Amino acid sequence: MSAAAGLAGGLRGPGPTNAGSSARVVGLADGPLGAYVHVPFCARMCPFCPYNKVIPRAGQPERYFDALLTEARAYVEAGAAGATGFTSLYVGGGTPTLFPELLGPVLDALPVTGERAIEVLPSHATPAGLDALRGLGFTAVSIGVQSFSDDVLHHLRRPHDARQAKDALTHAVGRFDLVDADLILDVEYDDAHAGSFLGDLVSCFQLGVGQVSTYPLMRFGYTAFGPAPHDRRREHEVLAEATRLAAEHGYERRSVWTFNRPGSPSYTSITRRRFLGLGAGASSFLARDFLVNHFGVETYIGAIAAGRLPLARRLHLGRLGGAAYDAFWQAYSGRLCPPERGSGVPAAVLLRAATAGMTTTGLLTRPDAGGCRALTPRGFDRYHDLERWVTYHLIEPLWSQMLAEHAGEGGRAGWAAPESARRRRLWTVVERLLERPI
Ligand SMILES: C[S@@+](CC[C@H](N)C(=O)[O-])C[C@H]1O[C@@H](n2cnc3c(N)ncnc32)[C@H](O)[C@@H]1O
Ligand code: SF4
Repeated sequence: MSAAAGLAGGLRGPGPTNAGSSARVVGLADGPLGAYVHVPFCARMCPFCPYNKVIPRAGQPERYFDALLTEARAYVEAGAAGATGFTSLYVGGGTPTLFPELLGPVLDALPVTGERAIEVLPSHATPAGLDALRGLGFTAVSIGVQSFSDDVLHHLRRPHDARQAKDALTHAVGRFDLVDADLILDVEYDDAHAGSFLGDLVSCFQLGVGQVSTYPLMRFGYTAFGPAPHDRRREHEVLAEATRLAAEHGYERRSVWTFNRPGSPSYTSITRRRFLGLGAGASSFLARDFLVNHFGVETYIGAIAAGRLPLARRLHLGRLGGAAYDAFWQAYSGRLCPPERGSGVPAAVLLRAATAGMTTTGLLTRPDAGGCRALTPRGFDRYHDLERWVTYHLIEPLWSQMLAEHAGEGGRAGWAAPESARRRRLWTVVERLLERPI
């Protein structure tokens, strides 16, 4: 397919070259889709955070949300929501709670059957702020607590203190079907200074949240924190202790980095089987293709204004790569099941061989009646290492390339230094093999 008639094409033009480009994207999916919406704005930049975001210029949020609405409508008109609606909605950022009043029309344009989740900055989680989110239809919130230690919060340069973080959880519990608290685990800092991480985890259990996400700090080279080596053995130890404490407080390890109250739903943006990403910096996974939207906020708005989909990259994983992607994210939740029908014989054979090998080496349990195997404690440790490897070898190089789009918009994003990202030869090979014209 030529670039002109490719996926980005036109949003609603009548000509044969550009009609139906959103339908072509939707046609890449092999089943129901979850929706992800990215809001790339923050009032202040946290120096450890790698996500796509800018401090908004005057008038930019209004123009951005108009563009987002156009993108959402184009995909819904093309059938992305299916007959019954998207299976779930996840609104992330950036800080999606910075402009809740602008979010409403976009939410109205997206039919959803399942959970509706949003990331919330603790200082926005006041009773009135949370009631407004409920009024917008959200059923789940993920609150960026990071820590209950003012020392750690200062080290992370967070725009809130420990009191606000605790109050946020107190106000949220009982208002939503699921309340998730994000904690950051920086073992080097925790061991040398505050030593508060495990106590913070217990505080979250005592406050009655449905889920705690314990994210090990990722040191992206292009952030102000910069790269640093990791003491992965110590990380394994702390997570093992977290698992023990969780059990002691009646919580279960539901995935590599999440602990849930039994019966509580799980909250993730990353383990949806298929998802469509909307907004600047969002990505989509549609069975065999991984699509990435423009990161530059003005580049994104400009593409929509020109009648094109805001797609910047397309990586074609193929049947085998798609099945590997599926297996990778399935394993995040601690279980590996046989591939679905239609994945193809090579994928099934490869997965069977890999899982058998992992069972022999003690990383997976023996299969249950449905053929599914669970990660053992050692399996969780290895997956933790693999996740970090994928982050630094694939995600950091991709995001650093995409963040360079901000340079054409009047300076760097102000916080990102793409030239300081780790250089990875593997990523160059992956790009060469998988990149397709949009
Ligand atoms: C987009 S932010 C959350 C929403 C909101 N902007 C806030 O900060 O509260 C999503 C979560 O990613 C996690 N995160 C951010 N940077 C990280 C990093 N470098 N390594 C690991 N987790 C990180 C944090 O726990 C954060 O709460
Ligand atoms: S952690 Fe949240 S508030 Fe801080 S820069 Fe990242 S997205 Fe913005």
